[in-house]
Amino acid sequence: CGDVGILAIEIYFPNQYVEQSELEEHDGVTKGKYTIGLGQQKMGFCNDREDIHSLCLTVVQRLLEKNKIGYGEIGRLEVGTETIIDKSKSVKTVLMQLFKPSGNTDIEGVDTTNACYGGTAALFNAVNWIQSQFWDGRYALVVAGDVAVYPPGPARPTGGAGAIAMLIGPNAPITFNRVRATHMEHVYDFYKPDLSSEFPTVDGKISIECYLSALDCCYERYCKKENRPDVSFDDFDYFCFHSPYCKLVQKSFARLCVNDYFLYSDKEQSDSKYPDLVPFKNLNLKETYFNRELEQAAVKCSKTSFEAKTLPSLMIASMVGNMYTPSLYGGLVSLLVNKNAESLLGKRIGMFSYGSGLASSMFSLQVSKDAGRVESLLASLGDIPSRLEARTALPAAEFTTILKAKEDSYNKAPYQPTASLDTLTSGTYYLIEVDPQYRRTYGRR
Ligand code: ACO
Repeated sequence: CGDVGILAIEIYFPNQYVEQSELEEHDGVTKGKYTIGLGQQKMGFCNDREDIHSLCLTVVQRLLEKNKIGYGEIGRLEVGTETIIDKSKSVKTVLMQLFKPSGNTDIEGVDTTNACYGGTAALFNAVNWIQSQFWDGRYALVVAGDVAVYPPGPARPTGGAGAIAMLIGPNAPITFNRVRATHMEHVYDFYKPDLSSEFPTVDGKISIECYLSALDCCYERYCKKENRPDVSFDDFDYFCFHSPYCKLVQKSFARLCVNDYFLYSDKEQSDSKYPDLVPFKNLNLKETYFNRELEQAAVKCSKTSFEAKTLPSLMIASMVGNMYTPSLYGGLVSLLVNKNAESLLGKRIGMFSYGSGLASSMFSLQVSKDAGRVESLLASLGDIPSRLEARTALPAAEFTTILKAKEDSYNKAPYQPTASLDTLTSGTYYLIEVDPQYRRTYGRR
């Protein structure tokens, strides 16, 4: 079947947030560290009424309802998440309760986990299924969701929460280009070995180096696989990145420019294209992850391209935070929300997915030239800016109290949530209770 890709997409983020500027003051760090240094404006978070199940139930229900897709029309459902509240039972099986009234239980796929990469693995699986001999003609549904929380300290402002659902099928407004490049490696940069805690064990500096080196590997491989000399970031009209925090994305975009400069076969041409990088020409690329002078020169010479190609993709990342598995796809949604159909038709979108540990891939999406298809996709995303605006701001002290209470009650059974249902928007799924056997029940607001 032709033009397999993303037919529809829906995002859910919690209805409350904390201002990063207030958090700076509350945490006693210097003014500007989170807002300018990390590039984050607001951080979304869940109270005890929401967990990974409820986030995913909400987003799947909304996607299907909004796009008038019947539950019987889904033949595969994949979930990418690193928010593990059960070591055996998948989030996918929890989502099956939505399908029960339709009688559709013939749905392949379970959960995929590797830090922030699970959503991408799920997406690849879904596309592969539709292009395989096993496809039965129905849609695939990809869900990526996480609750990203860190302990008090330098990583805390890089949290977030949310879920994305993508409907995959033929004749799509956004399809997949042929080339994919992957880099996977065994590292301990960010991992969750303590099963009694929701928090990761993280070495911030190593995680940044791992992220940037994975980007280098994927980009070089991607360019080689394109089998054309001198592929450069100019070949992409837009570029979305997994966003742990927005400043790292700007540095990553600049890193593509550094790669172009070092990989370009015509050295004279690359010197004249990137004069600011000439002083660094003799450096070993692998030793430059924390070279501030090179970084600043690259940020400077890629600034205009960054603002045109990537900045529009950072709206949700800066207003909600790192949602982990949905982060990259929140970038795609932001880009679609901030561009009109005319500026998207026929365009190529670079995508870089990174999950610590580590698994990373680069691929590219192709926006259809069919205005009707693209316009209907964009129309379904039109409510996102107002939903972001309508959220409730909670003081930093209350955010901290809520996170502490969640930490203290983590994995407790029985458990009765206490947050008011008034904190939730209409149609949101919420946790009713965890019974003594750890079974969770949900209601819908
Ligand atoms: N005004 C403006 N900028 C400031 C200020 C200020 N007052 N104070 C600090 N900054 C800048 C710093 O110069 C630094 O900028 P730079 O990165 O360009 O050097 C930036 O703000 C951050 O400050 P640091 O001191 O480097 O921050 P810290 O080390 O305390 O924490 C970190 C940052 C490591 C990212 C931490 O938040 C973390 O561990 N996060 C989780 C891990 C993570 O997200 N890793 C990324 C990939 S892995 C993944 O996706 C989970």
